[in-house]
Amino acid sequence: FFYGPSMKKVVSRYTELTGRMPLPPKWTLGNQQCRWSYANEQQVKDVVLRYEKEMIPLEAIQLDIHYMDGYRNFTWARQRFPDPTKLTKWLGDKGVKVVGIVDAGVKYEPGGKYDVYNEGVAKNFFLKKSNSDLYIGKVWPGESVFVDYTLPDASKWWGDLHGKLLDTGIAGIWNDMNEPADFESRDGEKWKDVVNYDEGRFSKHDKMRNLFALLECKATYEGLQRLRPKERPYVITRSGYAGIQRYATMWTGDSNSTWASLALCLPMFENLGLSGETFVGADCGGFSGRADGELLTRWYQVAFLTPFLRNHHEANGYDQEPWRFGSRYTDIIRKYINLRYQLMPYLYTVLADANETGIPWFRPLILENQNDSNVVNIEDEFLVGSSLLCAPILKEGACARDLYLPEGDWYDFNSGIKYKGKQYISVIAPLDTVPLFVKAGSILPMAPVVQHLSEQTEKTAITYQVYPDEAGKASGQLYEDDGNTPEYLQGAFERSTLEFNQGKLSSSSNKNKSKTSISTTDFKVISSK
Ligand code: NOJ
Repeated sequence: FFYGPSMKKVVSRYTELTGRMPLPPKWTLGNQQCRWSYANEQQVKDVVLRYEKEMIPLEAIQLDIHYMDGYRNFTWARQRFPDPTKLTKWLGDKGVKVVGIVDAGVKYEPGGKYDVYNEGVAKNFFLKKSNSDLYIGKVWPGESVFVDYTLPDASKWWGDLHGKLLDTGIAGIWNDMNEPADFESRDGEKWKDVVNYDEGRFSKHDKMRNLFALLECKATYEGLQRLRPKERPYVITRSGYAGIQRYATMWTGDSNSTWASLALCLPMFENLGLSGETFVGADCGGFSGRADGELLTRWYQVAFLTPFLRNHHEANGYDQEPWRFGSRYTDIIRKYINLRYQLMPYLYTVLADANETGIPWFRPLILENQNDSNVVNIEDEFLVGSSLLCAPILKEGACARDLYLPEGDWYDFNSGIKYKGKQYISVIAPLDTVPLFVKAGSILPMAPVVQHLSEQTEKTAITYQVYPDEAGKASGQLYEDDGNTPEYLQGAFERSTLEFNQGKLSSSSNKNKSKTSISTTDFKVISSK
């Protein structure tokens, strides 16, 4: 029982018990691109070159199952990816990281040369049935076996296997199909006979199922930690259980390319956040089916404010990259990805807050306005941190909408018009506009648009947009660290408190307690219209 009474306290206490999200590398907040599948080296290069040509920031390419040799985890299909290290270096020189998928099913290949299978069998690391036969399911490689992650040695072995991928330059791991999915037993019925070590209790699968993905991600995360202790691990998962935020970020699986699916993103992200998992997102544009330019554009107008920003689509021959539907749409998508990069100092601070307090990045209005009965059922607006409110367009053809502004005054981010809160308003929002509001009394730290986050270095000037309240005051926070190492856990970060009063902006931090004034050329006061 988690006593509040504030919802924020409940979430904070829940995450105190189940754990809080460690900071992932900062580049994971950049724009990512995926496809089932970029099936060879040239396709990957072409996509990255097109991103460059379109001047759309890109941080990472995620490789789906076709990079593997016959869907064997920890291998590369050399006929299509002849020199993975050379490829990841080529991409790295362009500022683009590579994330590789790893599936839960391991190809069942008795008598073959697949060392992962052979070693796992020799060491007794795979799940068995009650008669001691291996449990054999069916996934992408055909017949497949699954690791018993409740065996500590098996988990360590699995974690260490990732060295094979890291050595070829892979920077993050995508754990898929880890419910665990099994095409031959979609309802899990066959799994009921599977026995897990479970600290010597030899428990059946119905007790252990929820732990499968949690422990797989733990093994992966800890493996990455051991292999690259100076880097923050990046794991993304499809499944999880209470506490998954300690090991993996999450995306919402196979959504449909429909308006209904887009609308569903908001409550899904909010509920995941309230369940402790802050770093979430959906396949931008939807995974199954066919988006069009309008849907993809409106989807980016939500995704640019979600922690995980990745365009991904199923293997049905229907492309969905940002340029797919012509320049009218590409230009708007670029505008919003650019805006995300401009907002990065604010967004990274919100992420650091989630790491420290458990309060999620993506918030339902009720989390900040618990006593306002008007917000209880609002599912089509969200907050990012406590300062930004977004009311996206979630209906085909819509160019306007009604929305509710909670208590306080709110500035329209696009026009600067100031509205009183605790009221419903109607706004116009043609395709290039998403209704976005900033709470009066906030300060947004902003950075320049760059093609890769590594270009937003300490030397890049941060500027501040100040949104004064009635009394002419505003305040805010700015969190900064090296963005890559775990040293922030040892205090290697700077958290600045920003204060605006009587036309002056000052900052003090955990490193420099005395107030320093910020030059008037570095901030802009938004005057209400
Ligand atoms: C299922 C995942 O949800 C999807 O994102 C992926 O593309 C396919 N598996 C193929 O790996």
